[in-house]
Amino acid sequence: MKGKTLVISGGTRGIGQAIVYEFAREGVNVAFTYNSNEEIALEQVKDLEANYGIKAKAYPFNILEPEKYKELFLEIDKDFDRVDYFISNAIISGRAVVGGYTKFMKLKPRGINNIFTATVNAFVVGAQESAKRMEKVGGGSIISLSSTGNLVYIENYAGHGTAKAAVEAMVRYGAAELGCMNIRVNAVSGGPIETDALRAFTNYEEVRDKTAELSPLNRMGKPQDLAGACLFLCSEKASWITGHTLLIDGGTTFK
Ligand SMILES: NC(=O)c1ccc[n+]([C@@H]2O[C@H](COP(=O)([O-])OP(=O)(O)OC[C@H]3O[C@@H](n4cnc5c(N)ncnc54)[C@H](OP(=O)(O)O)[C@@H]3O)[C@@H](O)[C@H]2O)c1
Repeated sequence: MKGKTLVISGGTRGIGQAIVYEFAREGVNVAFTYNSNEEIALEQVKDLEANYGIKAKAYPFNILEPEKYKELFLEIDKDFDRVDYFISNAIISGRAVVGGYTKFMKLKPRGINNIFTATVNAFVVGAQESAKRMEKVGGGSIISLSSTGNLVYIENYAGHGTAKAAVEAMVRYGAAELGCMNIRVNAVSGGPIETDALRAFTNYEEVRDKTAELSPLNRMGKPQDLAGACLFLCSEKASWITGHTLLIDGGTTFK
């Protein structure tokens, strides 16, 4: 994988950051986006280039404006000579999810729409732009992050859970139509993982304790638990895996 290029949204924190480092360790060049944390993003670029000998660059990007992926990829083209992997990882939180991250009776179309835009529309436009570049280099691998909150009940998670179910379906459609370009499309669906996004849950401590209790491994998920799966799905070892959702939940969903 050395010398290839990963494009990933939301590479500054949590799972996205763990993925950036997982790929950098393999010698993969990384183009990652950030939203608010420019300082962290620029520090991270320096660290990646100094300690992993790869090319890294950070770009500001808002997943609530997915059509702007077209401009973003034109910028990436100036800095990187190829795109081999695309991971749609970033997720919105705070004010943008009001009316989406809540109880069923409090859901509002605007909040649900924001989450759908950030999850499904952003995946689609990012995947389209990356697929055009992957075709030129003979193929590639596209991944959307998903969550087991579309399979099991998580309080206040209706908006996110429904959008994740939709993006998993979209992944299968992408896989069906991009296979002819040797592009594989998959989802990595995580159970609760210790990140800022989860710590923002109103019932974070309850989710943390319940997850550890449900898991036969007696612990919460860590960002690295999903990063390894992304690396595997992009590698040649996963060369016949496409249209698949890889569930990484520490055994919690079965219980
Ligand atoms: N945590 C979990 O329990 C869990 C479980 C399963 C799946 N997932 C999925 O894994 C993915 C990553 O989640 P996480 O927990 O790592 O999230 P996180 O720690 O909250 O990190 C979110 C990332 O997205 C970026 N971001 C935030 N708002 C954005 C916006 N409007 N436009 C573009 N980028 C934006 C952030 O950039 P800045 O740092 O610049 O703000 C950050 O890099 C998500 O798709 C999530 O649904 C999470």
